[in-house]
Amino acid sequence: MKIVFATNNQHKLQEIREILGSDFEVVSLKDIGCDVDIPETGTTLEANAHQKASYIYENYGLDCFADDTGLEVEALDGAPGVHSARYAEGTDHDSEANMAKLLKELEGKNNRKARFRTVIALIQKEGDSTICSREYSFEGEVKGEIATEKSGKGGFGYDPIFVPEGYDKSFAELGEEIKNKISHRARAVAKLAEHLKDE
Ligand code: IMP
Repeated sequence: MKIVFATNNQHKLQEIREILGSDFEVVSLKDIGCDVDIPETGTTLEANAHQKASYIYENYGLDCFADDTGLEVEALDGAPGVHSARYAEGTDHDSEANMAKLLKELEGKNNRKARFRTVIALIQKEGDSTICSREYSFEGEVKGEIATEKSGKGGFGYDPIFVPEGYDKSFAELGEEIKNKISHRARAVAKLAEHLKDE
């Protein structure tokens, strides 16, 4: 079964291919010749995941899924949330600037609880027609705390300052093997895989 993952992130593609196994051919945006930077203008993770999956389904008529992730900090009313990639003003995916801003915002705050949340939107054709489709949403989260300083060299994004519940090290220190078992994305992907394998 062929399915498009609306991403060009090799790390995410590898992860999902390993989980889904050889019954599924997971292809990237590049593989289907899509070089558009698909807009993500939603105000929620759900809306952005839906927007990306819909773009592919409407333009290519292929079964597809898309993900969106955010770091939600309790003391900041859920910020940076849907704005996680561009939290520091005037930047895009600048992890150092994003972490520096978050640590500054949390200075002097006792409540450092946070969670990563991933939403995956899946759109599948119903029968042979592309007019009828079904849409599903899968969510994964990992709770934890924001450390007072960075530690560790692994991972990406906010990993050096996120300490998952039940551990005393950051995601960046814990390494891929543990992170891929307990992460928000791994949990959402596991739900997607369960759905696809049940079909
Ligand atoms: P995306 O939706 O996967 O592109 O994630 C949006 C932003 O959330 C990224 O730019 C990162 O800053 C952050 N992020 C997503 N997943 C992770 C993760 O597993 N660890 C740390 N940061 C992450």
